[in-house]
Amino acid sequence: MPDPDPAALAFLQRRRSRPAKTLGLPVPDRAALRPLLDMALRCPDHGKLEPWRLVVLERAALARLAGLVGECGARLGRTEEDTAKQRAQFAAAHLAVAVILSPKPSDKIPAVEQSHSAACVAYGLLNAALAAGWGANWLSGWASHDATFARDALGLAEHERITGFIHIGTETSAPPERPRPDTGALTTWMDA
Ligand SMILES: Cc1cc2nc3c(=O)[nH]c(=O)nc-3n(C[C@H](O)[C@H](O)[C@H](O)COP(=O)(O)O)c2cc1C
Repeated sequence: MPDPDPAALAFLQRRRSRPAKTLGLPVPDRAALRPLLDMALRCPDHGKLEPWRLVVLERAALARLAGLVGECGARLGRTEEDTAKQRAQFAAAHLAVAVILSPKPSDKIPAVEQSHSAACVAYGLLNAALAAGWGANWLSGWASHDATFARDALGLAEHERITGFIHIGTETSAPPERPRPDTGALTTWMDA
């Protein structure tokens, strides 16, 4: 028979993100963040390729990223509004961890599986931060998909991609619950 972990199940039943723009100070210091990073990297990884890495963005780094958004937006033809919104993602943040997909050459493990593993890291970090009592939110933002921004902002190599930014901080207001998916409608049970 299974041996349930009620606390873990309760967490998974009620977990939800906290909008990044509502996250304030304090944020976890390096000593508090490190075990959350360990938990995130304890993730499914076909072939043990470790096709990911993390970049912790502290306040000055986030301000630097905010400063790169204008050039990126102009080059990509983004509107002023879009550009301001993207800039604010970094300018208003106190701590974010960039999860980087860093695929490894492999005859056996397809690139898409390595990307799935990086998404597991991001989700694991989101949940670890939430379980530790922090507010957290997984954001990408259009700039994250631009190779030039990724290189200039985070030093990414040509083959690497930003899986997401996990913003972490202190919750300042409770977000309204959003409608959750209809599991029954999305699940097919096959018995033959
Ligand atoms: C890959 C990925 C990228 C996302 N990027 C953004 C984003 O850039 N902006 C945004 O408002 N939400 C974004 N979201 C959605 C937020 O994370 C949202 O808060 C989340 O869906 C809330 O779900 P939860 O409460 O179940 O954690 C993204 C989600 C994923 C999975």
